[in-house]
Amino acid sequence: MTIHRRGLLLGAAAAFAMPMPSRSETAPRALVARPGKAQLAPEGYPETDIWGFEGQAPGPLLRARQGARLQRRLMNELPVPTSVHWHGIRIDNAMDGVAGLTQASVAPGETFDYAFDLPDAGTYWYHAHTNSYEQVARGLYGALIVEEPEAPDVDREETLILDDWRLDHETAQISGDFGAWHDLSHAGRMGNIITTNGSFILQRAARTNERLRLRLINAASARVLTLSLAGLEGWVMALDGMPLARPIAAQDTLLLAPAQRMDLIVDVTAAEGETAHLAYMDDDGKWWSQVAWDITGSAASKPRPAPGALPPNPRQAVPGVAGARTVTLVMEGGAMGRLQAATYGGKRLAFRELAERGQFWAFNGTVGRADAPLVKAALGETLRIRIVNDTVFPHAMHLHGMHFREVMKDSDSLGPLRDTLLVQRGETREIAFVADNPGDWLFHCHMLAHAAAGMTTWIKVARS
Ligand code: C2O
Ligand code: CU
Repeated sequence: MTIHRRGLLLGAAAAFAMPMPSRSETAPRALVARPGKAQLAPEGYPETDIWGFEGQAPGPLLRARQGARLQRRLMNELPVPTSVHWHGIRIDNAMDGVAGLTQASVAPGETFDYAFDLPDAGTYWYHAHTNSYEQVARGLYGALIVEEPEAPDVDREETLILDDWRLDHETAQISGDFGAWHDLSHAGRMGNIITTNGSFILQRAARTNERLRLRLINAASARVLTLSLAGLEGWVMALDGMPLARPIAAQDTLLLAPAQRMDLIVDVTAAEGETAHLAYMDDDGKWWSQVAWDITGSAASKPRPAPGALPPNPRQAVPGVAGARTVTLVMEGGAMGRLQAATYGGKRLAFRELAERGQFWAFNGTVGRADAPLVKAALGETLRIRIVNDTVFPHAMHLHGMHFREVMKDSDSLGPLRDTLLVQRGETREIAFVADNPGDWLFHCHMLAHAAAGMTTWIKVARS
């Protein structure tokens, strides 16, 4: 009898231990896009109504290990359709989040399941990719951190997402003038308040000789950020998620274009009682503290030796650049530009007719994403794209799905792996990449009003 009872109990326990599929176990975790509130403006101002993932701006920091699979169920609780792009991830094309190209946008009340592998470690981000020029500017973005199998030797790390908001001076509400003619045709939607992780000034503490890893992300719609460190000294370790082969000593000013990321390892050089800063330079050349670290003591008596490079990600090489096919992309248009006419929606239109439709920019004489791609690449082909900026504005060109290297002018050397390249007015720059990720990939300016006003094309990589 006793044995029998025990047997029954064991059997019962075993049954409980069996995996029992249930909704909560099989459904991916939710990522809810919804309205929320944030204290963006300094204290004393009201909270700002934003749109954010989980109602926050920035949205939750997503963290996973390299090689892991990320799964999130986007639940759209916004009044408008949306979708999520995982910026910088070498992703399965169906998961890229580009409404109208890789998926249909997700209607209010609907869901979409994102699931994809994370092949590369580094600092990435996610953001809305439906009417991005409005949705990202309202706060629909967050950081996506993919951890190296072995973390570098630092005391701690901080992910710092900077944004540039256009708020009403009294109510602190987001100015609703999305797609304003001036923004579309000039430098994009510039804001009037810069935040870090949603704060006007981020207050932190640190200790002398403490070593920090800073992961900087520029989530601004248009502003190229000029940043500087004070009381911190260190190295640039990675750009756009990808480790540099050798750390580079951080310069006095650091330029971060929209969508770009920069990983730094810094040592605190400020002494107890002082304050270290990450500062931002405004248009008048004035520096403003974005992050202020009050120095509360000492972590070590002397600084550590320089760090070694971060471990490389799997796809590093861009072979065969010398003999690769070159495609030229000429950027034209905008205010004070030379564009007189271009093709839009299959029709040839004069600049004035384009302007009436809110379109101001062309790539190779075509405005916006046409049915035909800029180029069709064979799977595995190395491609070069020569980008000619024949406008009087800078543009931050972002390639989806694959990182590229810049082909440097004065030498035959290649620059670091990146996914977003800042091309200044009048410049010609050239990039090369291996088209090893099959699918339809957007290639556009990350000044989001420019992308909406014509600066969007795409590249097709054959499936086999
Ligand atoms: Cu960060 Cu097409 O986007
Ligand atoms: Cu642009």
